[in-house]
Amino acid sequence: MPKESREIIITLIAGTSTLLLLGALMISFLFLYRNRHRKLLREREQLKLSYERELLKSQLEIQEQTFRHISQEIHDNIGQMLSLAKLNLSTMDPSLPDNLEQKIIDSKKLVGQAIYDLRNLSHGLSTDYIADMGLVRAIEHELEMVRKSGNYETLFESEGKSYPLDKQRELIIYRILQETVNNIIKHAASQKIIIHLHYSQEELTLSITDNGKGFDLTPLNQDASFGLGIRNMYNRAQLMGAGFKISSTLGHGTSVVLSVPVEAANTRT
Ligand SMILES: Nc1ncnc2c1ncn2[C@@H]1O[C@H](COP(=O)(O)OP(=O)(O)O)[C@@H](O)[C@H]1O
Ligand SMILES: [Mg+2]
Repeated sequence: MPKESREIIITLIAGTSTLLLLGALMISFLFLYRNRHRKLLREREQLKLSYERELLKSQLEIQEQTFRHISQEIHDNIGQMLSLAKLNLSTMDPSLPDNLEQKIIDSKKLVGQAIYDLRNLSHGLSTDYIADMGLVRAIEHELEMVRKSGNYETLFESEGKSYPLDKQRELIIYRILQETVNNIIKHAASQKIIIHLHYSQEELTLSITDNGKGFDLTPLNQDASFGLGIRNMYNRAQLMGAGFKISSTLGHGTSVVLSVPVEAANTRT
């Protein structure tokens, strides 16, 4: 075979092989890209599902807590007032006009107070009350319940011009607050609960501090079965793109800080 033909054949083979190789590379690249894209979509879908699941759970937990408050309030306050009013009425003695008048006045007061408390309670029954009231008033409402149920000194400060976040995130923030306050009531043996909200352009920061006995955080990093409530709060914060930090000093109290970016890169879309 003449030298020139051999060279042409070799060039053709080399060219074809290079083209085939390039083609194969491109196909594998496309294949890899498609797989990664699918994986990303799947992960995003999973995150969205987790977010929706946690949202629903938070909503249910808020309802449960509301029912607990309400049954306690009916039992401890409204029920007591009505029983007292009934006692007054049944011990009225028409032969003692002075006593009669006082009892009527007392009973009127008691029934009036019971009606007032009932009206307040029915406001809290609306399932959308956080959306209706906004976060600030919902927190005040929660603190009022806490004050009523125990001997707590509570302090609530809101700094900066408040703005609404989307309903879903406000709900999760409120639920985290409730859980933290429950922990204080259950574990802290404190007298004070201090809540601070700070609205800035970039983020909303919520801090909840108690002056109770504090606790050791080490097991949180070592034992997966310890602190499920705290882990749950942490996961929920992460799902909405927020930071969650808990710090505690034995004998001095505990503090929980939640920072929610205003434009959170979250999974709701
Ligand atoms: N404010 C607090 N003060 C003292 N101890 C706390 C406080 N919050 C949490 N803890 C401790 O951390 C533990 C884990 O809390 P959590 O995850 O909410 O679980 P649970 O409340 O179901 O015990 C509690 O059992 C308690 O020992
Ligand atoms: Mg708990």
